[in-house]
Amino acid sequence: MIVDERLVTYINSLETGNTDILNQIEREALKTNVPIIRKEMQTFLKLMLVMNRPKRILEVGTAVGFSSILMAEYNPIDCEILTIENYEKRIPIARENFTRAGKENTITLLTGDAKDILPTLADPFDFIFMDAAKGQYINFMPEVLRLLKPGGMLISDNVLQDGDIIESRFAVTRRNRTIHKRMREYLYELTHNEELQTAVLPIGDGITVSVKK
Ligand SMILES: C[S@@+](CC[C@H](N)C(=O)[O-])C[C@H]1O[C@@H](n2cnc3c(N)ncnc32)[C@H](O)[C@@H]1O
Repeated sequence: MIVDERLVTYINSLETGNTDILNQIEREALKTNVPIIRKEMQTFLKLMLVMNRPKRILEVGTAVGFSSILMAEYNPIDCEILTIENYEKRIPIARENFTRAGKENTITLLTGDAKDILPTLADPFDFIFMDAAKGQYINFMPEVLRLLKPGGMLISDNVLQDGDIIESRFAVTRRNRTIHKRMREYLYELTHNEELQTAVLPIGDGITVSVKK
């Protein structure tokens, strides 16, 4: 945890909560160890949706559909959401959840590896939420930039790796070194790419918010 736990608990206690179906899907996901966005990210996404009112949303990393349903529920306007997932076990659960939430006409699930699917997408997006394998973000970046409209927003989750990001590569376990290196490259690229204005924020496990100039 990169932010004081009691502080996070207090901040989360101020949140007014989600719809019943989201609460149900969240409970099921947590019970079955499916990783979904934390409360802090939920609150932040809702704010960004109200501010941006995106018509077309792309999500990389569906899991069982929790965050895409949250975006469909809390975007103040009708929108189209495309979300990408490659883990076969999660795909039917996500589809079922979209139907349970009555969002099957709003959310389209694209199945397969994002590295193959992103190049096939043509129409640009107003809002992109990156929440897949952390070591892949840097590889997705050229396609994500191509797909983001000028003025569009890119949000990436889990970028500070529970604080490990500030450690030297030798202090990180060998298993995590590649991800550590790639995430540092991604953060550098987001903050130095001339097409983007980016803030790195210590929310949840660390997030970035970028706007395409
Ligand atoms: C953290 S979970 C997504 C959680 C979801 N956004 C939510 O909050 O409800 C990340 C998901 O990305 C998927 N994923 C990872 N790498 C991927 C890739 N290269 N292409 C497609 N999906 C990928 C994983 O299988 C996993 O289900």
